[in-house]
Amino acid sequence: MGGIPHDHYEPKSGGEKWLQRRLPILGLAYDTLMIPTPKNLNWMWIWGIVLVFTLVLQIITGVVLVMHYTPHVDLAFESVEHIMRNVNGGWAIRYMHANGASLFFVAVYLHIFRSLYYGSYKAPREVTWIIGMLMLILMMATVFMGYVLPWGQMSFWGATVITGLFGAIPFVGEPLQVWLLGGPSVDNATLNRFFSLHYLMPFLLLGLTIVHVWAFHTTGNNNPTGVEVRRTSKEEAAKDTLPFWPYFVIKDLYALAVILVIFVAIVGFMPNYLGHPDNYIPANPLATPAHIVPEWYLLPFYAMLRAITFPIAIPFTGIEIIDAKFFGVLVMFGSLAVMAAVPWLDTSRVRSGRYRPMFKWWFALLVVDFFVLMWAGAMPAEGLVPVISLIGTVYWFGYFLVVLPLLGLFEEPLEQPATIEEDFANNHPADAEGSASAQPAE
Ligand code: HEM
Repeated sequence: MGGIPHDHYEPKSGGEKWLQRRLPILGLAYDTLMIPTPKNLNWMWIWGIVLVFTLVLQIITGVVLVMHYTPHVDLAFESVEHIMRNVNGGWAIRYMHANGASLFFVAVYLHIFRSLYYGSYKAPREVTWIIGMLMLILMMATVFMGYVLPWGQMSFWGATVITGLFGAIPFVGEPLQVWLLGGPSVDNATLNRFFSLHYLMPFLLLGLTIVHVWAFHTTGNNNPTGVEVRRTSKEEAAKDTLPFWPYFVIKDLYALAVILVIFVAIVGFMPNYLGHPDNYIPANPLATPAHIVPEWYLLPFYAMLRAITFPIAIPFTGIEIIDAKFFGVLVMFGSLAVMAAVPWLDTSRVRSGRYRPMFKWWFALLVVDFFVLMWAGAMPAEGLVPVISLIGTVYWFGYFLVVLPLLGLFEEPLEQPATIEEDFANNHPADAEGSASAQPAE
């Protein structure tokens, strides 16, 4: 695929020409910044930039925290208190980092559900999607290990429960668990290696971000209609797109500013709202908290893990093929695997949910399901909670494995606009006039 036809960088001054022949970095920057972008993108296309910003924020605040943090079981908790009380601005850096993780997940879930609704995962954007899924898994591993570092009660017990899951793998489980922990239980060796990996993984995420952006710059962005930019000529492509700079940069910066007002208010006025008070109690291997819960962003997946309380057994024999604990682990990882496979599970030839009257309802139910699972993950596993978790889990798998494959065969899609230009003109008649002349000069 050759990408969307557009003007490329032409070095003008002698200095630019000299550099371009040796390292075409200005050309790369120009082509990245001026990339033709569908002009009908709505506000759900801001989350990618919010994610890039948050990743950089997490790296900067994290690097400063490390200057004062000590990864040792006898000192970790106190070094965090030292950051909070003695280090200049330390409380702000720490609260930004802790709440930055929440902002990261708010943005990534909105980014993912946007992609699911507008069919951004469909051909030819499967690689963008798969890299995104790898990034999600890496984000989850990063927050999990980061949460262990303050060495509070929830750090210790969360790590104990989750690393215990590896012990459920048949045959290799126990040695694997000991190898991961660096010993028979969560201890100093565990804290040290989690610290090391927690520092490393954001940089891997940064590398994957570059590949992710490279992938969707190759195919071009999707857009709310799901109709592709015309690629037959530069002139036609120009009618469907606007250059990323300045149009989308300004839009994204405006959105980022609004989001940051809310973020700073949370950091300043309610920084512990999303955290668990037990993590302000130093880790104690001899006292188990009444109720071990992960942070809010991992709850839906935690609920699916706990929903499975029964083994897979051969009927009438009682012989277990997969025990209940390992089945739970498979379901939790499977919930991500089915989402990763969505480009090949969705059989509809229409990309955007806008023109899929039945899909809309199933999709809405998936969003509700996600929140129900989040709620169920936070509740003690008693009363109706296990049943609700199980129903939620069944729907999650059913949506990807049954609903999407079948819906494409039966659904009668609505009529789509012929071009992005047409959609834009219908929605913004006043702006449609001027935008065609807004392309960069030839
Ligand atoms: C650190 C995490 C991530 C970063 C920094 C990031 C960044 C971006 C950016 C800047 C865009 C273009 C603008 C936009 O669509 O908002 C984008 C598009 C996209 N992202 Fe991500 N992303 C991340 C995670 C994910 C995840 C977890 C998924 C899904 C599993 C995903 C799937 C996609 C898809 C399918 C597109 C293409 C949308 C389009 O073409 O319009 N991304 N991403």
